[in-house]
Amino acid sequence: MTLETNIANSDVGDLTREQADAELARLAELLSKANTDYHTHDAPKLSDAEYDSLKRRNSAIENRFPDLKREDSASEQVGAAVASGFGKIRHDVRMLSLGNAFSEEDVAEFDTSVRKYLGLAADAPLTYTAEPKIDGLSLSLRYEKGILVQAATRGDGTVGENVTANARTVGDIPHKLTDAPDLLEVRGEVYMSHADFDAINTRQEERGGKTFANPRNAAAGSLRQLDAEVTRARPLRFFAYAWGSLSAPLGKTQSASIATLADLGFSINPLTVTCEGPAELVSHYDKIAELRPDLGYDIDGVVYKIDDLELQSRLGFRSTTPRWAIAHKFPAELAWTRLDGIDIQVGRTGALSPVARLSPVTVGGVVVSNATLHNEDYIKGLDSKGQEIRGGKDIRVGDLVQVYRAGDVIPKVADVDISKRSPDAPEFVFPNKCPECGSDAIREPGDAVRRCSGGIICPAQAVEKLKHFVSRAAFDIDGMGAKQVEQFYTDGWIAEPADIFTLQTRYGNGIQQLKNREGWGEKSANALFAAIEDKRKIPLARLIFGLGIRHVGEASANMIALHYGTWKALAQAMEDARSQEGPAWDDLLAIDGMGAVMAGSLVSAFAQKAECASIMRLVAELDVQEAVRADTSGSPVAGKTVVFTGTLEKMTRAEAKARAERLGAKVSGSVSAKTNLLIAGPGAGSKAKKAADLGIEMLDEDGWLALIEGI
Ligand code: IVH
Repeated sequence: MTLETNIANSDVGDLTREQADAELARLAELLSKANTDYHTHDAPKLSDAEYDSLKRRNSAIENRFPDLKREDSASEQVGAAVASGFGKIRHDVRMLSLGNAFSEEDVAEFDTSVRKYLGLAADAPLTYTAEPKIDGLSLSLRYEKGILVQAATRGDGTVGENVTANARTVGDIPHKLTDAPDLLEVRGEVYMSHADFDAINTRQEERGGKTFANPRNAAAGSLRQLDAEVTRARPLRFFAYAWGSLSAPLGKTQSASIATLADLGFSINPLTVTCEGPAELVSHYDKIAELRPDLGYDIDGVVYKIDDLELQSRLGFRSTTPRWAIAHKFPAELAWTRLDGIDIQVGRTGALSPVARLSPVTVGGVVVSNATLHNEDYIKGLDSKGQEIRGGKDIRVGDLVQVYRAGDVIPKVADVDISKRSPDAPEFVFPNKCPECGSDAIREPGDAVRRCSGGIICPAQAVEKLKHFVSRAAFDIDGMGAKQVEQFYTDGWIAEPADIFTLQTRYGNGIQQLKNREGWGEKSANALFAAIEDKRKIPLARLIFGLGIRHVGEASANMIALHYGTWKALAQAMEDARSQEGPAWDDLLAIDGMGAVMAGSLVSAFAQKAECASIMRLVAELDVQEAVRADTSGSPVAGKTVVFTGTLEKMTRAEAKARAERLGAKVSGSVSAKTNLLIAGPGAGSKAKKAADLGIEMLDEDGWLALIEGI
């Protein structure tokens, strides 16, 4: 018997706290090594039985001492993350992306919207910073008492990968800081220079290895190496441009904070300046665009940020982007190639999307062989309003087409050269039957998209819905990706989301059956069922997003969840709002970002018999968690419904609403018996009267600010 199984067999009940803590650390290490040996190196050193008994012991100790459970515990790590060999790290402060501007008008609009939000006049001074947008991958470095203790990739913004060992090999990343705040999270971009990229690709070619498509892929591939020694051999660099958690501020402004980071020893981009308004921003953009070919590394735009950190914090965030910054992107890159074919893909909501199959061509350093053609009108040379685009030229198979890509977006077909078209090339006929299930593909008046009418009988829709359901932002079921969904669907194991949760019971000894299938073993089968069990308990927002209802994205799902709080309340509201009128409907429309189209789509999903039944079967399998607002502890308005009326003098309506929502309040547009608080500015009229009649607490703006001060 091995040492590992010896440990596993002794009694958990005898352990002291200290022993348990030490053993959990050892088990985390052993199991993580076993996982890497198994998943990554395909070279397991433990038998299945040994592995299982270690894992059971780990869980037994965790059950006895739940507060000792480690972040890197094996019970937290199933499937993908472990398969890729990196532990997960939850970011204290989310790592966000940036909104984009593509023109000078967009930049002016950004400036206007910031001023409007802050209530600043068009000519009031407002300072920005402008700096290159580095085309690499973002990294968050955590320093505790000046020591680099952790490095994490962005991941999905909330949870990233632990790449600490690899980050330590990057020359620009200091291991130790002097005079730094006790806690300092520095954020920036890891990138590779053109010269290093060329050298690596030459070396790879000589060895017959795979080459990288561009420096960003090379940087990402190098940072995400399981063996840190491989990373060390790849010359990566790092520019710091932001921060996460801090125990003390770095400065009062963005520019001063960045200067502090430079003093601490970080590399700061030398083209970072402050500007006084859109005209100066654009002129710095032009300067950077001119310098771009000679910088020696890839950049894809210029980032503008409000300099004053107090204004930044007033502006806050939308769901995934800050209101106080924007990326002004460089124009897209173009190339001409042959259109070899047009395929029709059927999406989750039944939309038929034409995809261009192209003779491969390099666009901005990336080989492109597929591009979107949007919809049938686009192929005909018409926009969504029926107006001509491209001078009305249609697109036919065999044509020479212009492809462009901007950043990470899917490449698009922009133009066509009809002078090279063969005279007998037939016009493209868009199908009016679903290519997957043969149902009629219908185009509703006013809709640019033709949709398969097959609903859940259409295998393409069902599979896409399932893929969406298990995806990261939805149920995030480890070990169940697109490939597995297709496999299970094809074999009739799952047809709808609820089936995932009954998989194990329906197949009695599910593990036995699963492990005999190609690509599965006992461990992966166990891990899958454990991952599924793990997701029975699901936050309301993830459930709503996971349902894959048309128009309901991740951000909207969050807002809906926060608005209704519980599944029960949501389901009841959907029933009450069915007629698309009345108080429940109005209440739905009052959700921030909710329009009639999304609301209609949401309500109809619940009104449709088959779809609703499928949702109910799913929910019966789940333990749906109430939606709770972040950071509202101690907030006097958490869970309260507040209404603003009259003129606000210290902030704009949008700012007041966003701030109240951040504090956990629900902001409503109308006064009802459910209203807890009315904030009335000068000129308040009928709402104030109604609130007084209903005996609702009322405050003026100063009273409101005093109430929420310091939170
Ligand atoms: S600021 C809250 N500054 O661009 C936003 N981002 O498209 C903090 N990036 O995820 C980001 N250069 O990876 C900022 N000078 C720069 C940047 C930059 C590159 C990346 C970053 C971010 C992405 C957003």
